[in-house]
Amino acid sequence: MKILRTAIVGLGRIGWQFHLPEVAAHPGFEPVAVVDPLPDRREEAAVAYGVRSYADLAPLLAGEAIDLVVIASPTPFHAEQALLAFEHGCDVFCDKPLAPTLAEAERMIEAAEKQGRKLMVYQPHRAGVEVVGLHQLLARNLIGPLYMIKRGRSDYIRRNDWQAFRKYGGGMLNNYGSHHIDELLHLAGSPPRKITCALRTVASLGDADDVVKVLIETESGLLLDLDINMAAAHPVPAWHVLGAYGSIVLDAQDHAWRVRYYDPAALGAGVVHDELVAPERRYGNIDETISWQEFVLPLSEVEPVDYYERCYGFYALDEPPFVPIEETLALMRTLATCRAQS
Ligand SMILES: NC(=O)c1ccc[n+]([C@@H]2O[C@H](COP(=O)([O-])OP(=O)(O)OC[C@H]3O[C@@H](n4cnc5c(N)ncnc54)[C@H](O)[C@@H]3O)[C@@H](O)[C@H]2O)c1
Repeated sequence: MKILRTAIVGLGRIGWQFHLPEVAAHPGFEPVAVVDPLPDRREEAAVAYGVRSYADLAPLLAGEAIDLVVIASPTPFHAEQALLAFEHGCDVFCDKPLAPTLAEAERMIEAAEKQGRKLMVYQPHRAGVEVVGLHQLLARNLIGPLYMIKRGRSDYIRRNDWQAFRKYGGGMLNNYGSHHIDELLHLAGSPPRKITCALRTVASLGDADDVVKVLIETESGLLLDLDINMAAAHPVPAWHVLGAYGSIVLDAQDHAWRVRYYDPAALGAGVVHDELVAPERRYGNIDETISWQEFVLPLSEVEPVDYYERCYGFYALDEPPFVPIEETLALMRTLATCRAQS
């Protein structure tokens, strides 16, 4: 088995809690070294995982033979660290968002191409049971042609860490937006043709956006409607997936997708009254009763994607990437358009 000698950069929330343990647990990866400016975090990693540790990426790359650099440092460092890794002949697995700006993301993608290195982004929402289950449901075509996906994420948080500040590439558009816009474009399977966005800073203690409203119309005509609201006292619904003959919602309490749909063949063509008087002074379509059906998909029945297994396939076995870089570029372009509008 090919073993990928791996360095992990940044031992914070995602580096320490996800990337380092995943790398250590997968037989195809060997965690060799880590980078963090904080000495206690370096020491903690050295003790727990037997890795060498560095305060900076440059000396690590100069002194170690590394195949893969996993970047989980704050977003402003992603570009310079990825470029350095490529120069040293390493591939890069980078946490989202790829960079704070489209220009930096493009520089990273160009450098990877020029130097023949691989670059993929960690977009965990694509791999989770919600999106995997939703893909399975959509493939069954119960709700007819899709016309809109509404996605919501809300809370009330007076955010006070680096991700609350614009100078660090913070804000909810970059942070949760890079998850949920990616998720929506991935489900749509079609790039944006029109994007409208409004950003507000309401409850955050920083200056970056914590209320994000995005409407995307895809090339295929699908509407993607995203609400990220960190200043909402009541929750907004997480999902509403709308097709011509039904819709799908996430039942947060039962952890299940609920589908409500009908068979259009059972309704026939329908009766139209086109004169200017409503029959029997009634509202709605009095000729028609829709026989709704229900289908439930418990999330416990859905198998999530094993991300590091897909990473191994991509970086070690030359399999297609789980997240193609063109899709990351589409996401970064969308984020840039949203920022430019706000
Ligand atoms: N995919 C996800 O679900 C997910 C979740 C959380 C964070 N992230 C992303 O991961 C990245 C890190 O976020 P976080 O929440 O773990 O941040 P964090 O603040 O919890 O941790 C950042 C860590 O990086 C270290 N650091 C600071 N400067 C560094 C440098 N120059 N080189 C190396 N390490 C440095 C810090 O000391 C800290 O240990 C961000 O890009 C963020 O958007 C992704």
